[in-house]
Amino acid sequence: MAFYHKLGQIPRYKHTTFYKEDGKSLYREELFSTEGFSNIYSNKYHLDMPTKTLSIKNLSPLSDDDWVDAPLIHLHFFTDMIKSSGDFFTSRNLFMKNQHIRISTAHPDKNPDYFFKNSYHHEYIFIHYGTGIFWSEFGKFNFKPGDQIIIPRGIIFQLMFDNFQNNKILVVESDTQFDIPRHYRNEYGQLQEDAPYCERDIILPEYFLPFDEKGEFRLLIKAGNNLYEYLMPHHPYDLIGWDGYVYPWAFNIKDYNPKVGKLHLPPPVHLFLTTKHFVLCNFCPRLFDFHPNAIPAPYFHSNVDSAEVLYYIEGDFMSRKGIREGSITLHPLGIPHGPQPGKTEASIGALKTDEYAVMIDTFDPLLVTNNVKKSMDNDYYKSWLE
Ligand SMILES: [Fe+2]
Repeated sequence: MAFYHKLGQIPRYKHTTFYKEDGKSLYREELFSTEGFSNIYSNKYHLDMPTKTLSIKNLSPLSDDDWVDAPLIHLHFFTDMIKSSGDFFTSRNLFMKNQHIRISTAHPDKNPDYFFKNSYHHEYIFIHYGTGIFWSEFGKFNFKPGDQIIIPRGIIFQLMFDNFQNNKILVVESDTQFDIPRHYRNEYGQLQEDAPYCERDIILPEYFLPFDEKGEFRLLIKAGNNLYEYLMPHHPYDLIGWDGYVYPWAFNIKDYNPKVGKLHLPPPVHLFLTTKHFVLCNFCPRLFDFHPNAIPAPYFHSNVDSAEVLYYIEGDFMSRKGIREGSITLHPLGIPHGPQPGKTEASIGALKTDEYAVMIDTFDPLLVTNNVKKSMDNDYYKSWLE
């Protein structure tokens, strides 16, 4: 995260004695750091040692079910056709991946009875439908549709839904951290006046008293395609306090302030977050370009360095036909794409769009799974034929 936050009690000085109320037992300090000791970090203060483990079990490896001979074509698929049962982790269906990213959707219909940690990947969770509480060792907050929750890797957390009728999430795992774009921040890290969102829009974790409980607590740790069950002898949410720059947070897509130009502005104006290997954009309702002869629909383009993924949330999706909420389009890198027949003409003179969508542009090719094959619109690549 781009700014400092602290919750609960912390000692006046780092790496000094910090005693519990009994005056003789110590809180346990843990440095939670990134890029060795060279990038952002937080200091956590536990009731007990975070390393205590009763047992470790290697559960079955996770299978990706790759679509091995998938053709190089434009793809449109309906993620809502692939359902599964489970919580925010076990109900995930993987659709796309490369060595840096994994893109899944899920329809959680229960809550976990365990704690979860993703050790190798940072997580971005978009709440399409559903409300509930995001719990983590760093604090908790309520979530609602449109929230985009960022969870740095290594953090213990859970998503607890209020009910199980109609939940839907999009999950993006990244092997490098999610960053607020550098050009949105001034030299002190503060969001600039012309950035599309500001610090007031950030949903921060709120404090709760640490759980001072002993017993057996299941923690599932995902490490690549391996899943481990750790049994901890104390409750994982045992922080009396913490401070620093690494923590989970959220931002609602409806708080994104889109930019408008006289002529068509390219997707970088819709940037939300960057990583080293892909970017995330937020497309929101906005007025169209105001040149009298402007064509608001995008021109045909070949992103020769980017595979373009769009997850459609709600609205009119001005440049696409046949798209539904929950649809994903994948336009692979190296071949051109653009509006379907009639969409360019229809956009001329239009004043605004009401679309909400999340875009993910990866700098490496994406592989797809059989979930794409099972849910795809077979004729999408022919949809440019008049
Ligand atoms: Fe595009």
